[in-house]
This record gives sequence, structure tokens and C-alpha cells, in this order.
Amino acid sequence: MTRRSVVIGAGHYLPERIVENAEFEGSIDTTDAWIRSRSGIERRHFAADGETTSMMATRAAEATLTMAGKTPEDVDAIVVATSTPDLTFPSVATMVQARLGMTKGFAFDVQAVCAGFVFALTNANALIVSGQADRVLVIGAETFSKIIDWTDRSTCVLFGDGAGALLLEAQDCAGDSSDRGILATDLNSDGRHKDLLYVDGGVSTRTTGYLRMQGNQVFRHAVEKLSSTATTALEKAGLGTQDIDWIVPHQANIRIIQGTAKKLDLPMDQVVVTVQDHGNTSAASIPLAMCVGLQRGQIKQGDLIVTEAIGGGLAWGAVVLRW
Ligand code: ACO
Repeated sequence: MTRRSVVIGAGHYLPERIVENAEFEGSIDTTDAWIRSRSGIERRHFAADGETTSMMATRAAEATLTMAGKTPEDVDAIVVATSTPDLTFPSVATMVQARLGMTKGFAFDVQAVCAGFVFALTNANALIVSGQADRVLVIGAETFSKIIDWTDRSTCVLFGDGAGALLLEAQDCAGDSSDRGILATDLNSDGRHKDLLYVDGGVSTRTTGYLRMQGNQVFRHAVEKLSSTATTALEKAGLGTQDIDWIVPHQANIRIIQGTAKKLDLPMDQVVVTVQDHGNTSAASIPLAMCVGLQRGQIKQGDLIVTEAIGGGLAWGAVVLRW
């Protein structure tokens, strides 16, 4: 028997305020047509004043527990992927733990920017496989609207806010690739590329700062690195692209999503796409897309899912799981 991390619940939260591309036309030199054609984004949600990452993460966690038919007492650990915490510390994860009324177990944050959910899933899987936890809530939650320079047209139109979560549970499985649960993971980073995507402020420099991105440079790395990490993760699972039912990619840009699918030789009707409605929600984008995929009836139990992401660092990776 092999101990696997099986998804038993998924949930999400999106802030009420929806901002259409056209709203940017009044404040910066841009057009709805440019944003759609270069990124695929049509609209995004922005958190209200005072609506924090931990609040949204908690809403996603509650929805996930409801879907799984579990209570906070059933959870051993919470891992939150975020680059936009409420405070420098404590972690968003411990704030969610408190908001859920969970007094046992442990909680911590993971920071790998847009690749954060893949890193968090991999960490949660390690906790389960090594026997340190039986149920782990994995959350991606971001308020990127709070680190945007609203005068920088090359970044401010791309990002959105939201939160999504999965509940993973330890289950004994046969030990082959027909098992449900996480079958393989692949993580990478290369800090030499730190200047391509960063926030130009932080605690130890006693500054705050805004998101800065050389978008076209990140783009060049994205398709190559995403397709290669997905292929590596599949190989680790003893599977190939022909076995994939759905790709659930990080939702940064429709052209990156299309380019990666093409490189993997997969048609777009096997790709869950939400970038048009959410924009780039960084670490929240994958669990948000998984929830939408479930709602649309795309993802079903038993489907083989490959999820992949790249973000600041650069950091990138993929997870192969059977739903
Ligand atoms: N409206 C109109 N024109 C614009 C806008 C805008 N909002 N933004 C930029 N432009 C202009 C530029 O100024 C440039 O003009 P120029 O030719 O006169 O200099 C022109 O459009 C082309 O700019 P590029 O940056 O080359 O455009 P590109 O086709 O690369 O698209 C984009 C830009 C959408 C940012 C794309 O590069 C991209 O998606 N990159 C990857 C982003 C990503 O995946 N990030 C990783 C995850 S994010 C994270 O980890 C936080």
C-alpha cells in the first residue's frame, strides 16, 4: 500500500467588485482591445478596502470544508501560498487557523509568488506522505491589487485578487499511476532571474514598493519552463501527455497557456482557462481554476490533472494528480 494525498474538497472566494478592462481606459493609456489581445484578460476581481488576504483565504477554506463534509477539527495542517500577506508576520495560515476556530495542528505560509500553489501542494503532499499530517488544507490567496502601481500600464491591467483551496486527505492506495491523489511533483527555481519580476520594496529595506515586471522577458521563459516541468512531473509519475485529461495552468496570459499546451501537444479543449474572468491572481489562480473546472463539469473524479505555474524568482513547477 502507498500513502497518497487525495483531494476531498475544493472551494474558492472572489471579491465582489469586478473591474472590466474598459475601466482602465479612463486612467491610463490602454484599451480593452490591447489587454484582451496581449493577455486574454477581460475582467478581474479586486478586494474591497479592508478586505485582506486572510479574510479571503478563510472564505475559501470554509467553502472547501463544506464541500468535503469536514470541520476544522478534522484538519491537521494549513499551508497558505501567498506573496501578499496581511502583515509581515504572523503568517496568513495562522490567521486562517484562528478564524476557523482551529486550536490544534499547525499552519504556515509558503512564498513562491505565482508558483506558490504548486510549491504549497508539494509541501502538503510531503507532510501527508511522511505521516506528519492526515488532512491538510492547501490555500492560495492573494491581494495583488495592493502591490500594483496604478500608473504602470504594463502591469496594472494584468492582476486580480481571490482565493482558492483544496483539502488533501491521506488515503492508502495501490501504489501505481491509476491511484487517486498526488502522483508526482517537480519544483524548480533560478534566482539569477530575480530582476525580471519583483516588488521594489520590503521589510529589511524599510520600504514598501510595487510589483515590477519585464513581462516580455518572463514570457520567454514561461512556455519553455512550464512545458518542461510538466513533462518531468509526468515522467516521474510514469505517465505521458497522452494520459492527461486536463491541464490546469497558472492563469497569467492566454498566449502562455496556449503556447504551453501546444508544446505538450494538447488541444485547448483539455485546458481549464479562467484568465479572462480572473486575470492573474498569482498563487490563487490554480485552485480558483480547479473550482471553476469543477463547476463547469470539466474536472471529474478519476481525471488525470497536470497543474503548472511560473512566477517571480523565477520559481516554477508542476504537480500530477488524479482527482
Ligand atoms: N496597454 C497598451 N499598451 C501597452 C500596455 C497596455 N496596458 N502595456 C504595455 N504596452 C505596450 C508597451 O509599452 C510596448 O510598447 P512599445 O512597443 O512602444 O515599447 C508594447 O505594448 C509591447 O509590450 P510588451 O511588453 O513587449 O508586450 P507583450 O506582448 O510581451 O505583452 C504581457 C505584455 C501581457 C505582460 C506579456 O509579456 C506577459 O504576459 N508576460 C508574462 C507575465 C507572466 O507570466 N508573469 C509570471 C507570473 S506573475 C508573478 O509571478 C507575480
